[in-house]
Amino acid sequence: MTMSSDPNPLDLGVRTGWPPELRYLLERFPRGGWPDHPNLGDLTQFWLEIHESFRAAAVDLERRADDVREGRTVPEQYWAGAAPRMRRLLAGLGYHHRVEDSHVFPVLMEAEARLIRGFEVLERDHDALHARIDRLVALSRVMPVSLTSDTGDIARSVDDLTAAQAHLAAGLRQHLADEEDLIVPLILDRTEVVLGM
Ligand SMILES: [Fe+2]
Ligand SMILES: [Fe+2]
Repeated sequence: MTMSSDPNPLDLGVRTGWPPELRYLLERFPRGGWPDHPNLGDLTQFWLEIHESFRAAAVDLERRADDVREGRTVPEQYWAGAAPRMRRLLAGLGYHHRVEDSHVFPVLMEAEARLIRGFEVLERDHDALHARIDRLVALSRVMPVSLTSDTGDIARSVDDLTAAQAHLAAGLRQHLADEEDLIVPLILDRTEVVLGM
């Protein structure tokens, strides 16, 4: 994790995609050609599907958040549905990031030194996402108290929690898109087998 107080232009929440020096493979392998590319191996397809499941879970949680904020569900009903889904998403992200940090990124950094800076950015993203996850977990511990005690401010708890959830979802979308833009073109260029994945 960087300790600098200046925002890095490539930090999550600041950047809007990769700079030209990290896009040279993406220019050669644009997204439109990925699905039919012969080098899109099973592992990569599986990894993309996991990313898609994270996006779908985030959309589902956002829909539930909209429903409670706009009065279509009561907070108790919202929390009964959102809590297990949120737990599943956060556990899935924790595992996924550990695999990427410990295995996927080191292998790919070794294979393509020109992209190392991009992988360092993705590693920092994981730290940033985990800070957002920690905030969400802390707020989710408040929800049951708010729902069951007379003194709990339910509306405030719901607002705080759904805002934290939206903050995580926004960072997650950016991270997933940029991670795919960095990694998939490299795999299509070299193949999973050659990279030793
Ligand atoms: Fe990641
Ligand atoms: Fe990922």
